[in-house]
Order: sequence, then C-alpha cells, then structure tokens
Amino acid sequence: MNIEEIPSGDPASPARTWDATGADLVPAVAAAAEVLKSGGLVAFPTETVYGLGALGLRPDCVAKVFVAKGRPATNPVILHGPSAEALRPLAACWPEIAEILAARFWPGPLTLVVDAAPVVPSIVTAGGSTVALRVPAHPVARALLDAVGEPLAAPSANRSESLSPTTAAHVLKSLAGRIDGVLDGGPTTAGLESTVVDVTGPLPRILRPGPLGFAALREVLGQIDLPFAEPPAGEPARSPGQRSRHYAPATPLHLVPRDRFADELAQQTSAGRRVGVLVFSSEDGSSAAANRVLPDDPEEFGARLYGALHDLDDAALDLILVIEPPAGEAWRAVRDRLRRAAQPAA
Ligand code: TXA
Ligand code: MG
Repeated sequence: MNIEEIPSGDPASPARTWDATGADLVPAVAAAAEVLKSGGLVAFPTETVYGLGALGLRPDCVAKVFVAKGRPATNPVILHGPSAEALRPLAACWPEIAEILAARFWPGPLTLVVDAAPVVPSIVTAGGSTVALRVPAHPVARALLDAVGEPLAAPSANRSESLSPTTAAHVLKSLAGRIDGVLDGGPTTAGLESTVVDVTGPLPRILRPGPLGFAALREVLGQIDLPFAEPPAGEPARSPGQRSRHYAPATPLHLVPRDRFADELAQQTSAGRRVGVLVFSSEDGSSAAANRVLPDDPEEFGARLYGALHDLDDAALDLILVIEPPAGEAWRAVRDRLRRAAQPAA
C-alpha cells in the first residue's frame, strides 16, 4: 500500500479505521505502521489525546500534517519515540534536568523542549533552534512507535484551533477525508494535552500545564522555580509556542463564576437562546437544553472535559456555559484549556 493509493486530503477516499481496542492490537498496529512508513498520515491514541502521526524526520510527510490540520507553519510539532534512548539523538544537548525528568516521567504525559540536533527538519521546529520530544505511555502508541521504528511527528489530531480529540470518532469528525486512517484505541485516559517543559534555559519552564501536575514536577525539581505565569481570572492564557486561540468548540463558550451561574443560565434562556451547560456534580444544570456533569476532581474533570465539550458542540446549541473551575494549582491545566476555549474569536 503506498501513498498514491490513499491520497491524503481526498474526500472521496475516506479514512480507514483500525480497531486496536481488543486484546490483539498487533495486526491493526502493523497495518497502520505500513501506511506511515509509506508516507501517510495516521491518527493514533496516546494517554493524553489522539495524535496525527507522520514520519517525523521526513519534511514531506510532516508538511502533510500541517496541510491536513490547517496548522500555521509557525507552530512547531512534537516528535514522539518509544524511549528516551530513541529520542536522545534528536537533541543537540541533553541537560541533566532532561535526564532526570525523562527517567522519572517517561513514558507519560510530559513533553520536553530541548536544543534540536541538525537531523531534525526545520518544519518540525517551525524554523526554531529547539525541538519538543515525548515518549507516550499508551500501549497502542508504544506498539506503533516500535513497529514504525522512527520518530513520529504528532500534533493533536484535530483541525487547527479546534477541540482536541479523545476518541477516534472525534478525530474523524474533524479530519475525515484529510488523513489516511485512525487507530482506534478507545477513549484516552488523561484527556488533556501533555505538560510541556522547556529545559533549554537555566531553569525549567512550563510552557503548557497538563496532566503531569506541578506538585509531581516539584517533587523532582525540588525548590527550583517553575515560572509559569497564569493570567488573572477572566483573561485568556498566553504561553510561548502557542497561539492565543486553541482548544475551542465551534459553539461560543462562556466561563461563568459559580455565584452568577444560575442567573446567567436563566437570562440566556429567557433571551431565547439554546444553552448547554457544563457543571460540577454539586450543581444542577437540568434546566438547560443540554447538560454535561463532570466530577469535582481536577484529574477526572480534565480526563472527561473534551468529551463533554465535543458532545455539547454537537448538540446544535447557541451557547455553552461552563462554571469557572476552582482556584488552585491542581486545576491549572483545566483552567488553561477552558480559558482558551472561552476566548472570543479574533
Ligand atoms: O499530549 C500531547 O502533547 C499531544 C499528543 C498527541 O502527544 N500532542 C499535542 O501536540 O498536543 P500539539 O501540536 O497539539 O501541541 C504541541 C504544543 C504546541 O503548543 C506547540 O506550540 C508546542 O507544543 N511546541 C512544539 N514544539 C515546540 C518547541 N520546539 N518549543 C516550544 N513549544 C513547542
Ligand atoms: Mg493541538
């Protein structure tokens, strides 16, 4: 099977789905690996979100990822490998802190930004001097990386600026006709994109909060500061390497403080809008046209957030209201994603 037979981006050539949910994922992974090795685009599950994979050291293959996603060339992509040893040659230097973090948290939801070795194509780094590296923990991702035997570039498998996918169905909703196939490994478990840590400077810097929380990082980094500035409530998040609008459903989304939530819902509904709500289990959202109730625990909330937003986005609503999550470090990644989702379109 080669790329001519399965052109990317041809709506007449629907993406195939390989079922890797059963005990025997080997044939599904082998078929997907063949498509990747012949230059195709295959979405695959990681423990965070589904990634859109392509051979990461082949600029022509990585270029197809940018086209399929509609991603601006200024936004670099992450290279994924089966182990730290496999990824190490992609780094021009490997600081001690990278070694420590990799040893402790890989495989897992951590991406490390290091100085790039010359072998890394400039399309991967968006022309910059650094490269982002990750070893995912998901068994399907690991089997696929082993089968391909080369690093895979894999941004989240969604059109640029839209919600990340946590199921194969989410991937197809966004990218069917633009990719060659998707490996279906069922819903992802961590549910939010990996924590991105830049280790090129004197102090590690968190570029994107994620499932690997600050408390766990601090355990390893000791008293080392983690200078990640969170904007004041109500303001959109900003972080290097990220566009300001990201992770957004198509339906307008408003974040509403808990004490104003009931009033806001009543007001919007009486103005004739079809309103969907995302609330904590302690709240009552049953008067809304559609509602999703998520647990009051930051990890579980994060794991199910995108699924709930995809559902609400599919419910033909005029507006989605989401209760502002609590303050505090444990909720940082969830707040970051919701603030990006809530930002009005530029
Ligand atoms: O969990 C994840 O990280 C998923 C799965 C598939 O691994 N991938 C993912 O990729 O979220 P993407 O492309 O959607 O997000 C990667 C983030 C972007 O914000 C990008 O700007 C940043 O990482 N990034 C990539 N390379 C970088 C670099 N060299 N320096 C700074 N930021 C970088
Ligand atoms: Mg993304």
